[in-house]
Amino acid sequence: MIAALHPCAEAYGKVIVLGEHSVVYGKPAVAAGLPNGLVLRARPLPDSAEPCRLRIPAWGLDLSVADVDHPVATAAATVLDHCRGPRTGWAIDGETCLPARAGLGSSATLTVALARLVLGPEAEVAAIEAASLAGERVFHGEPSGLDSAIAARGGVLRFVRGEPVRPIAVRAPIPLVILPSGVARSTAVEVAKVRARKERLPTLLEPILGALAAAAEAGIAAIESNDLGQLGEIMNVSHELVSALGVGHPALDRLVARALEGGALGAKLTGAGGGGCVVALRGPDDALVSALAAEGTPAIPVEIHG
Ligand code: MEV
Repeated sequence: MIAALHPCAEAYGKVIVLGEHSVVYGKPAVAAGLPNGLVLRARPLPDSAEPCRLRIPAWGLDLSVADVDHPVATAAATVLDHCRGPRTGWAIDGETCLPARAGLGSSATLTVALARLVLGPEAEVAAIEAASLAGERVFHGEPSGLDSAIAARGGVLRFVRGEPVRPIAVRAPIPLVILPSGVARSTAVEVAKVRARKERLPTLLEPILGALAAAAEAGIAAIESNDLGQLGEIMNVSHELVSALGVGHPALDRLVARALEGGALGAKLTGAGGGGCVVALRGPDDALVSALAAEGTPAIPVEIHG
């Protein structure tokens, strides 16, 4: 008798509002969940001995979890094993609007939703996060756990590695827009770049990490008091700081400049950087999204809620 999967499971996408990279070194970060990150549906295969199949057409994935040469298959098998789930007998199909490998938490959505397919909707969130983290290590080496926490929980969170997660109260929905640069990058590579720069220049990097921590705490206060002007300025400073860690990219700087010209209150790279996406805080007249659409710049408007 093989273990069964639940028919359906979901996970949130994520946008890091403040504190990427510094969170790896124990500093606070602020992240928000993006609804409809990934939905996985499971159905039994006719042959219960056939290895589980994973298909997510939006990410160009159609693979067997037995394919040891594919990192996604290895991560999926790791999560299934961690949860004592089946390695054979199931077809798992995924639907998502999230771009893959763009800093919006695609790998954490997959590992969280897979863990939920095995452990079910009533499972403790800590068990889901632990299973997700096992899969995330396959992709990213030694991740902070921020992506797993937000993919499992949603909302807006203050996250510090090794501490209980704190939900942040949001008084009114915060209007953001995500601008994909189209530049591919790898989280593991970007994290390694920061580590190497920190080893070469510790006396420069430590104060920058400290300033990023201060930015995250000040950003939380701005969110809690609904001071979006202050939050925007903190995002602008954070973009400069996180770029100074060595993960900036000219395409990200151009998108930040475009967003600010178009009336955004603030803009910064989000996620690991080196490519991926910019997140901008939309201003009160909110003409930015239509202006970007008119000029053909890809943009994903989102509102975040506590
Ligand atoms: C990646 O989404 C966020 C990073 O801070 C890495 C991590 O937290 O593990 C760059």
